[in-house]
Amino acid sequence: MKEKLEAIKAAAKSAVSAAAGEKEIEELRVKYLGKKGELTAMLKQMGSLAPEERPAAGQLVNEAKQWLESLIAQKKEELKSKATELKLKAETIDITMPGKEVAAGGLHPINIVVNDMIDIFQSMGFDVVDGPEVETDYYNFECLNVPADHPARDMQDTFYLADGLLLRTQTSAAQIRTMENRRPPIHAICPGRVFRADEVDATHSPVFHQLEGLVVDKGITMCDLKGVLEQFAKEIYGSDTKVRFRPSFFPFTEPSVEVDVSCSECGGKGCRVCKGAGWIEILGAGMVHPNVLRCCGIDPDVYSGFAFGIGIDRITTTRYKISDIRLLFENDKRFLEQF
Ligand code: PHE
Repeated sequence: MKEKLEAIKAAAKSAVSAAAGEKEIEELRVKYLGKKGELTAMLKQMGSLAPEERPAAGQLVNEAKQWLESLIAQKKEELKSKATELKLKAETIDITMPGKEVAAGGLHPINIVVNDMIDIFQSMGFDVVDGPEVETDYYNFECLNVPADHPARDMQDTFYLADGLLLRTQTSAAQIRTMENRRPPIHAICPGRVFRADEVDATHSPVFHQLEGLVVDKGITMCDLKGVLEQFAKEIYGSDTKVRFRPSFFPFTEPSVEVDVSCSECGGKGCRVCKGAGWIEILGAGMVHPNVLRCCGIDPDVYSGFAFGIGIDRITTTRYKISDIRLLFENDKRFLEQF
């Protein structure tokens, strides 16, 4: 019996050490230690031994079983750590390789300019208000003293939606909303996107940007308007900048002016940026029409105010010497990365 046991042990030992995978090891476990395994069979044969031999023989077989169990466990561990080692080797990362570059985003030139404009007006005491881009006819035209049959509507043809809604043609709509919701004194600006049914060319886009300004209080005059706009122009274009008022017409202001700034590029001599004029037109303005104040429930005999609407795209193209307004809306990264 002893010899048989030794033979099984020797065979098992070489088989286990030769095993190359977990599956083989499991097969060996079944072969020797399973229910029909060779060592199990030996235990079953104990009955055929003389009673006095049984304890010693039983002990031997049990020892052999334990020995083989631990041998198998050890081999399993070995295979496992070998597999981990191989896996780690296969997954090594070469930390000397150059990393992936994360492209940092930036502000669109229009947003850079808007932020600067907001800073300037906030420092003068204006707060920023917001208005919807989809407006009603009432806020965009009617209450701004532009009734349905007014010829000024021609110049501001827009995109009409269902239920009398339209895409706002001017941030002036926000004047009305502000005056409806607040009582004077009012000092507010509203920067935003506006829309007109214009053909696209180097200086026109159906989508563009304005910054509306509004001041309403007792005793506000055109001098206040000029002072605010002069200060704004100097901060945006430099302290030598001059401002020029030309008479104009807007239905919602009276009197109305068109405002030019001296060209910061040539100082007024005339160059490519100002197209030889020496001046650049940047905004429309005027004293708020009494009808508009009345429409918002503000008594024009007690209060007066001024309003202005600045073309943000114009400020952006002149500041950065951009020759074509379309570049602002095409989202070409090669263009946008320059700011
Ligand atoms: N809303 C006018 C425009 O878009 C500009 C403007 C605003 C004029 C405020 C006067 C006062 O042309």
